[in-house]
Amino acid sequence: MQLATTRRGALITIEGIDGAGKSTQVEPLAAHLRARGHDVLTTREPGATPLGRELRRVLLESDVALEPRTELFLFLADRVEHVRRVIAPALAAGRIVLCDRFADSTIAYQGYGRAADVATIRRWDEESRDGITPDLTLLLDCPLAIATLRRRHASDRYQSLDDGFHERVRGGFLALASAEPTRIRRIDASAPMETVRAEIAAVVDRWLAEHAR
Ligand code: TYD
Repeated sequence: MQLATTRRGALITIEGIDGAGKSTQVEPLAAHLRARGHDVLTTREPGATPLGRELRRVLLESDVALEPRTELFLFLADRVEHVRRVIAPALAAGRIVLCDRFADSTIAYQGYGRAADVATIRRWDEESRDGITPDLTLLLDCPLAIATLRRRHASDRYQSLDDGFHERVRGGFLALASAEPTRIRRIDASAPMETVRAEIAAVVDRWLAEHAR
């Protein structure tokens, strides 16, 4: 199926707070799309390129102190590498790229979560993406109490931050979704995993049907 997006392929991103259950939904969605004949690439941020894997270690696993701006630029460096080496070539080849976290995470975490100036973060983020924006974003949203129960290891830099931080991140994602309701679709992630999987598949199928040509 050819898609009527600005490029030949399509970029679908999956976003949400830590513990919303995003990562477990990527492969089932990829399998669903492949069964319908789509050529799908799954990827994630941070850490999908050789440099990205190094950056991911510093960002998530190391306890070295980072200035908020340093943290931002490390996520953006990861994105520059990811967009140029992985996402843009896949889109140019007509593939559907399913990306676990992308630019909205930077606005939600480094902007809303860190209580920084969102407009500034947005400007820097835009510089990192070579004009590539998600065609469709699935926001897996659930109350913090549910997400906290689901988090398996509260060990990395973000998962160990306090509830106030995660509430601001959630509020940030919801604000982004209300500002861009066509691109960002909120999915109720407090439902059982199978229900969430089916809703995601239905939203994506509808989107693909609307954008087929
Ligand atoms: P990861 O283990 O991939 O978390 P999850 O399984 O919840 O996606 O870790 C990614 C972490 O990095 C997550 O806590 C969110 C954070 N992050 C940012 O703060 N800014 C960003 O731009 C991105 C892409 C991720």
